[in-house]
Amino acid sequence: MRYGYFNDESREYVITRPDTPLPWINYLGSEAYFGIISNTAGGYSFYKDARLRRLTRYRLNNVPLDSGGRYIYLRDDDAPSNRSDPNFWSPTWQPSRIPLDEYECRHGLGYTTIRSRRKDIEAQIRYFVPLGESLEIWELTITNHRDQSINLSAFLAIEFCLWDALDDATNFQRNLSLAEVEVDDGVIYHKTEYRERRNHFAYLACSEEVAGFDTQREAFLGAYRGWESPAAVEAGQLSNSMASGWQPIGAQHIKIHLDAGQQKEIIFILGYHENSQDEKFDPPESQRLNKRTVKPVIARYVQVEEVERAFQALRTYWDELLDLLQVSTPDAHTNRLVNLWNVYQVMVTFNLSRSASYFESGIGRGIGFRDSNQDLLGFLHLIPERARERILDLAATQLPSGGAYHQYQPLTKRGNDDIGSNFNDDPLWLVLSTSAYIKETDDWSILDEAVPYDNKPGTEEPLFDHLERSIGYTLDRLGPHRLPLIGRADWNDCLNLNCFSDTPGQSFQTTTNKDGNVAESVFIAGMFILAANEMADIARRRQLNEQAEAFSRAAQEMEEALWSAGWDGDWFRRAYDDFGNPIGSKQCEEGKIFIEPQGMCIMAGLGLENGRAMQALDSVAERLATPHGILLHQPAYSRYYLHLGEISSYPAGYKENAGVFCHTNPWIMIAEARVGRGNNAFDYYLRINPSVREEISDVHKCEPYVYAQMIAGHDTPMHGEAKNSWLTGTAAWNYVAITQWILGIRPTYDGLAIEPVIPTEWEGFKAVRRFRGTRYTIHVERHSPGNEIRLEVNGMPIDGSIIPTPPTGTEEVDVIVKLG
Ligand code: GLC
Ligand code: GLC
Repeated sequence: MRYGYFNDESREYVITRPDTPLPWINYLGSEAYFGIISNTAGGYSFYKDARLRRLTRYRLNNVPLDSGGRYIYLRDDDAPSNRSDPNFWSPTWQPSRIPLDEYECRHGLGYTTIRSRRKDIEAQIRYFVPLGESLEIWELTITNHRDQSINLSAFLAIEFCLWDALDDATNFQRNLSLAEVEVDDGVIYHKTEYRERRNHFAYLACSEEVAGFDTQREAFLGAYRGWESPAAVEAGQLSNSMASGWQPIGAQHIKIHLDAGQQKEIIFILGYHENSQDEKFDPPESQRLNKRTVKPVIARYVQVEEVERAFQALRTYWDELLDLLQVSTPDAHTNRLVNLWNVYQVMVTFNLSRSASYFESGIGRGIGFRDSNQDLLGFLHLIPERARERILDLAATQLPSGGAYHQYQPLTKRGNDDIGSNFNDDPLWLVLSTSAYIKETDDWSILDEAVPYDNKPGTEEPLFDHLERSIGYTLDRLGPHRLPLIGRADWNDCLNLNCFSDTPGQSFQTTTNKDGNVAESVFIAGMFILAANEMADIARRRQLNEQAEAFSRAAQEMEEALWSAGWDGDWFRRAYDDFGNPIGSKQCEEGKIFIEPQGMCIMAGLGLENGRAMQALDSVAERLATPHGILLHQPAYSRYYLHLGEISSYPAGYKENAGVFCHTNPWIMIAEARVGRGNNAFDYYLRINPSVREEISDVHKCEPYVYAQMIAGHDTPMHGEAKNSWLTGTAAWNYVAITQWILGIRPTYDGLAIEPVIPTEWEGFKAVRRFRGTRYTIHVERHSPGNEIRLEVNGMPIDGSIIPTPPTGTEEVDVIVKLG
């Protein structure tokens, strides 16, 4: 069953009924000011940091679902009101949930438009954040389709958050006596804590004359009432209440007269503004907000033409980003994801890491070291300068040991002490993101950038040295089988082999009560081989031959250790526990086979020559693959194991305990492509592709336009149900798997490689890819089954699969790929 459809032309997902299985959200903003918005206008906004600069309130995990948002109420002032047939409604369905005659929500790139109709009054609200601004616009267009005139009231309402979202939701002894607002010229200014250490405030403005306002929540809602039927809306009048402590809101009342057929547009602005510390007040010795710098911003954006111009600029921004790679394949789901939604999701992960979604509260996590390095793989080619900056920010949180803070805070860019370090895969991800960056951009200068350790001035070293320390970090921590020690966890945050925890609530990630000298990770071993070989390649290209040799040798030795202790006979093992027993082996009762080492080891090139890669992949197909994607391991852990940690804390089939953890599925797609099995790779690709799953939205439940972190595994009664959509490494990795390995358009140090491993039944595909300033038009034509390729570049056959870099300034290159 579906709840909407893709409009590929307009680059939108159109939701046609409001009661989706879960709120289906979108993101507003792309630089500093962000918002989450659901298909019924739920959600919240923040400036840079979803915890520390939260503008509006939202109640996750509340009933009804999706409480708090950007609400507008319309009221037919000519009609009598009674409880059974109220004369007001919400054009976004929530919060009143009064039935609408028509409803449609269009989620686009950085904007959302909700349009509805009730009793011949049509309303459309377009929400977006103009590029470069710290504000959001709600553009309301009302049309009277009746054949007589009407007197309407529009009420807008939001609930302000007292900035720190955690404090706001917990510290009531203080925060119920804090709120302060100012109302000036119809504009509502939220200035809680401005009197003391803050120099920022929020504001709500409107293009029309305001007939009344409320800033105290209770005055607007009435005691014991909710957002679905505010007393003031019912009465048709606001009381100009001034918040003083309690719950500050912004509510405005606009009166509208519309003749038959007439249309009217109203603009609302919700914004964030900072004043310099010494110009906070006006006059200086008063407590009144200085509004001199905010007023011009407001004056600009209450104009319809300015708003339209800003909206068009936003569209152009996205169109230009998407143009960097466009494909036309025989499969509509592939085209849709590669050309649009997957790219969009990757950009959202760049902006928000794992901080704010319908599943991430915006309070908990900062920017993850491992997460962001992987997210980079998806957006390097879109925003190379910002990717460069992100790599350097991440590297600056590295520790002198080569280890890394697991997370850093976006506002300060400092490592987060609460979670600390010792996730032993972390440092290696920096090598993989940096090498991918160089392959894309050919910008070798990044390796010479001076970057501090732990952000301490005076400790700067070239980035290259940081990467060397990443490699050294693993080599300094080898276990009894000469495999890397796992530390607190590797990629799988829940495989906690040095944490034997029997205390409820104790953090599995930060509790370490074993000496850490025994438990080893085969996954890190595979990853190390991949990273050390990248370093060898980089060193060789910089004429550092001795170092190159050393990296190669280290990779070689690790490979030997891996074959002797990491191969189980039919697949790669996962790890060794604190007792020295294997995990992910036939010897185990549960958790016999895991997906991660199969993907990672084959991506590192293991087993391609001796047939073991194929063997491991056949084991995956037989033991882990389901119609809803590939499970993390099998059999699931049926009980809690003290020596395994959080992985066994989840009921069987959820999350890391044998769910379909989508992030890992593209590793298997890449591995299948590496062994030349395009049909298998693409089959796995389709199983978790959200557009394919649109058909089963009532099972899948999450948005059909983005990947979710997890799909419930077959050990649960909810098999196929997705959770944790949007902020997941699944986005970047699927993009890499489909574009670089299945379609095979892959940046290398020497130029763009084209090595498609596509389904046998595909006759070919077309792609246009911008790479290092040149536009490559690529035609792939299948001549027979198989993956043999012959390339013609600008009409001339060339040897091999890498297109030599054309002379600087070359604008266009035409490539014909004969496949089979
Ligand atoms: C979450 C984390 C990621 C981790 C994964 C597996 O997605 O953000 O860092 O690798 O879970 O545990
Ligand atoms: C939980 C989740 C895991 C995530 C981790 C982050 O363990 O299961 O997916 O990576 O929290 O702290």
